[in-house]
Amino acid sequence: TVVCECLGITDKDLEEAYKNGARTWEDLQQATKIGTVCGKCKGKSLELLHEFSHIY
Ligand code: FES
Repeated sequence: TVVCECLGITDKDLEEAYKNGARTWEDLQQATKIGTVCGKCKGKSLELLHEFSHIY
């Protein structure tokens, strides 16, 4: 599923970043550049971070 429409970043991309140590929105941005265009993907990204914290 695409989370960031501007950059085509998917939930799998964010999951990979999480596994590599990203724990905050800023971490995800450094890892993937997510949210650097319109920023509307931030809310969904934070939800996913929360989900990953339960899975891993
Ligand atoms: Fe992510 Fe626009 S949807 S920057």
